[in-house]
Amino acid sequence: MCGIVGYVGAQEANGRPLEVAMGGLARLEYRGYDSAGVALVTADRSRLVTAKKAGKLVNLSEALAAQPLPLATASIGHTRWATHGAPNDLNAHPHLSADGSIAVIHNGIVENFAVLRAELASRGVTLVSETDTEVVAHLLAETYAQTPDLAEALRLVARRLHGTFTLLAVHVDSPSLVVGARHDSPLVVGLGEGENFLGSDVAAFIAHTREAMELGQDQVVSITPDEVRVMDFDGNQVEPRRFTVDWDAAAAEKGGFASFMDKEIHDQPQAVADTLLGRTDAAGHLVLDDLRVDEAVLRQVDKIIVVACGTAAYAGQVAKYAIEHWCRIPVEVELAHEFRYRDPVVDSRTLVVAVSQSGETMDTLMAVRHAREQGAKVLAIVNTHGSTIPRESDAVLYTHAGPEVAVASTKAFLAQITAAYLLGLYLAQLRGTKFTDEVTTILDELRAVPEKIQKVLDGAETIRETARAMASTTSVLFLGRHVGYPVAMEGALKLKELAYIHAEGFAAGELKHGPIALIEEGQPVFVVVPSPRGRDSLHSKVISSIQEIRARGAHTLVIAEEGDDAVLPFADEVFFVPQTPVLLAPLVSVVPLQIFACELATAKGLDVDQPRNLAKSVTVE
Ligand code: M6R
Repeated sequence: MCGIVGYVGAQEANGRPLEVAMGGLARLEYRGYDSAGVALVTADRSRLVTAKKAGKLVNLSEALAAQPLPLATASIGHTRWATHGAPNDLNAHPHLSADGSIAVIHNGIVENFAVLRAELASRGVTLVSETDTEVVAHLLAETYAQTPDLAEALRLVARRLHGTFTLLAVHVDSPSLVVGARHDSPLVVGLGEGENFLGSDVAAFIAHTREAMELGQDQVVSITPDEVRVMDFDGNQVEPRRFTVDWDAAAAEKGGFASFMDKEIHDQPQAVADTLLGRTDAAGHLVLDDLRVDEAVLRQVDKIIVVACGTAAYAGQVAKYAIEHWCRIPVEVELAHEFRYRDPVVDSRTLVVAVSQSGETMDTLMAVRHAREQGAKVLAIVNTHGSTIPRESDAVLYTHAGPEVAVASTKAFLAQITAAYLLGLYLAQLRGTKFTDEVTTILDELRAVPEKIQKVLDGAETIRETARAMASTTSVLFLGRHVGYPVAMEGALKLKELAYIHAEGFAAGELKHGPIALIEEGQPVFVVVPSPRGRDSLHSKVISSIQEIRARGAHTLVIAEEGDDAVLPFADEVFFVPQTPVLLAPLVSVVPLQIFACELATAKGLDVDQPRNLAKSVTVE
């Protein structure tokens, strides 16, 4: 939640600090879009100026065009997802100290802000906003008055704060300095030539540099045009880890598509192919990206618990079917925010798999910490390099989906499923539950999937037409069974998020236990039909479910495998997808549902990239 960018360079003449801040905010706007603001420090130490506006970044851009800011050497910028105080101009960041010498931006929640606010008030400080952040600006000014070193003052203030925070600050007396502090909230450094950057994630600066540094928990960073210094909250100097971002800056552009959402749906063949790329060693054995856990320990694992939220949790549910089948290890899938509050049975033989696009979801991070405290090993499946969850895990498998900018997840979902399959195959190979040639066969089947997704994309006009025709629909149900069940739930989530339509996903077998009462004349129901080539007559059972709802008036929209003509008599509309092995089918069958949600929301005139009330990276619990 909240996007943060910081910049410092040697020259003020070219307007680069404002350009970097605004460009960074545009790339980070998916983190929150309740308001946006910037602060600039001029080189002559005379001025610290701010501009901030409620609403999307475009409002700030228009305000800046009408009333330009002076040239500067340092900038900080913020895009807000409101927690404390309404999303108005006053509560927008940056927040200033009483004398206007310090500007602060913040991502997270200062939990003890009420106590600090009262303390400030008792010293006669008047706070002008309703935010928790403003207390930091005042405390920092008071501390700086005693300790006139901005990084040191921020360190001392940070130690007094409870909760979660990334803070950036600038001071009017230090035009070539931006300082930052992080505790349970993300911050990365971008390394330039004669300039340096800070960002909530690397998207903030990939247009300018791909060289970056990870910051650890409880660290304070200072950037000048030529130097980056890091210390921990105890004041010890720290040497951060450097890394190179492998995302292409162009990947974070719309590339001719009307929306990031549409573009990212079309990126999916590449996202799956890239996630599969380079995963085998010279002997053909699967390898993970970063394994800090002994293989012997992985051989002993007797239970896997996937922790994740939202779409990532549905990826985990798909993975459960494959991992249990291939590895014969029981897999539980748990919403990360429920996990640690139910006293889960976790020990040193449990492998916890944390799935997250951002690598910053606070609920998932807290589940990771809890699992490790209980002695479990944690493996992270994450898309964003430099993020917190991989750093705090014992092993990492990166998805190579590239930057996902649209708030609703699409290509990350497919990449997460793909990575989870790789994990399943890796464990099957390690534990000997699959022969090498069986693993190779499944990998070959996986490598054939991107072409099948492309085929769905190429033939998407029918589903788009259906979506447009249903723009006034108020409720859609989704049914699936086996791996089709999490696909149905993901289809429903996409429609809720993007089109604000009531949608529910059900296991088709559950229908008769209650949900069938919802069926009335004309109720649209998507049904994800399993392959007729699958086991256990699942196909015919789902066909029976379609008949049952149709008999009660449902309008049936069926996703079925090419050649499955058995569905034709029972479907009002059919969307065929290429034949795919049963366990891998979600990678193909979810795509029409994503397209449906995107097109229907577009037909309703909604912003599919930034749906209301949401933020891409949920960094509060
Ligand atoms: O970054 P993460 O994958 O950890 O995010 C998890 C969820 O917040 C995310 O998938 C969310 O449900 C999206 N809005 C789905 O489109």
